[in-house]
Amino acid sequence: MSETATLRFASGEEIGLPVFTGGEGEKALDIEKLRAATGMVTLDEAYLNTASCRSAITYLDGEKGILRYRGYPIEELAEKSRFVEVAYLLMYGDLPIASQLDDFSAILNGSSLIHEDMRHFFLAFPNNAHPMSLLTTMVASLSAFYPVPENPTDEEEAQIIANLMSQVRTISAFSYKKFVGEPVVYPSHKLRFVENFLNMMFSSPVSNYQLDPDIVKAIEAFLIIHADHEQNCSTSAVRIAGSSLANVYAVISAGISALWGRRHGGANQAVVTMLRNIQQSGDDGRRFLEAAKSKDSRLMGFGHRIYKTHDPRALIMKKLCHRILGKPGMSDPMFDIAMRLEEAALSDDYFLSRNLYPNVDFYSGLILKAAGIPFDMFTVLFAIGRTPGWLAHWREMRHDANNRIARPRQIYTGPAERFYVPVSQREKHSVGVMRRSHTKALPVAPRDLISSSMDCG
Ligand SMILES: CC(C)(COP(=O)(O)OP(=O)(O)OC[C@H]1O[C@@H](n2cnc3c(N)ncnc32)[C@H](O)[C@@H]1OP(=O)(O)O)[C@@H](O)C(=O)NCCC(=O)NCCS
Repeated sequence: MSETATLRFASGEEIGLPVFTGGEGEKALDIEKLRAATGMVTLDEAYLNTASCRSAITYLDGEKGILRYRGYPIEELAEKSRFVEVAYLLMYGDLPIASQLDDFSAILNGSSLIHEDMRHFFLAFPNNAHPMSLLTTMVASLSAFYPVPENPTDEEEAQIIANLMSQVRTISAFSYKKFVGEPVVYPSHKLRFVENFLNMMFSSPVSNYQLDPDIVKAIEAFLIIHADHEQNCSTSAVRIAGSSLANVYAVISAGISALWGRRHGGANQAVVTMLRNIQQSGDDGRRFLEAAKSKDSRLMGFGHRIYKTHDPRALIMKKLCHRILGKPGMSDPMFDIAMRLEEAALSDDYFLSRNLYPNVDFYSGLILKAAGIPFDMFTVLFAIGRTPGWLAHWREMRHDANNRIARPRQIYTGPAERFYVPVSQREKHSVGVMRRSHTKALPVAPRDLISSSMDCG
């Protein structure tokens, strides 16, 4: 018999609500019929306690520090697999056999160029444009060059997925080249996914980039651990935009826009900024800990909405830091600062009592820095990693027969009904006043690609 929960009101009225049990035993009250039965909706601002969908892609247990893609522990995938293999797993539900992996790699390679006319778009952007502004615009523009049929067949869907995975990577590398004022380097069919990206970023007509297998492995792991994280802000944006049946390029562009925010994809930059500030201040980090405890600031890379213990991705990144930064000539004093800071925080009751542990961003920026990825490209790398996750959710949703447009309700808190007053009879009020001179567009401020700072909000 299926389980129900009883909701009892002060009036004595009762209603039975079905309890849905997930694959790992987690339970949810199904409130779909609540309004019809009682006239009430639920109020859960920022979705702290709302499951917005059923999904078979990623399992996350924040209390135990567990993250699995399609059942596979993130630790195993980061250690043993390749990003392309993980993308296939997220998308299609199982690890590919050799021939499937070859086919998937081939279609990705075959889809890696962007239409040559799109290169002109890059010229129209200011030189100091943030690479995320190029990425979100270019990805939305892809729909003009690669029209999407209303109901793609399986084959057309596979091509769309390959286009987006490969072209997000190509656009990212081209955006960087625009930033540094170098000619673009085209993708090569001879290189694998990650190697291709590094080559497009760092090769130039005057010097070939020497691929370092340890750096390739580190970037593979970075992309794998960022590939999906169930209903985070950007994936929810993808699901909401996708539920309107908007074209998939616009849908992924919505995800990239949501990721851009400093509360989401921008946090690893904030950590590196913090570590640099500690290094420059000559302090051992104690001042930053004290500032975080007195609420003057936050210890960046610590705490998580879902994880109440170590974020498993942080442990993977820390291990990788040891491997990469332990190599001759690769050491980074910021890594020592980070480890001392972690040790100090985890022996301090303020952090322990609030379950504040290092999150994925605490060490991941150091990995990107070691790989030579410039500061403002950090969020772009996150976007390349998250693209298969977004696509897997888009695909899961479009194959779900019960899929409907997402449309949350709200609780209205504005004025009660009132009536129109002609402008000559209105009283002055204090908000919404904009002087004409303020409507002029502001000029683009000069930026520094390597050293711009970011706070995490
Ligand atoms: C990630 C984050 C936004 C989660 O926020 P949240 O789940 O809404 O948690 P809250 O903001 O309610 O914080 C709970 C308590 O811990 C404290 N806290 C949370 N993160 C903290 C941090 N990094 N440093 C110091 N105190 C922190 C809060 O001040 C609050 O304390 P209180 O109970 O005395 O009021 C938050 O931990 C944070 O800002 N971390 C730093 C930024 C970061 O690393 N972001 C990347 C996330 S992957």
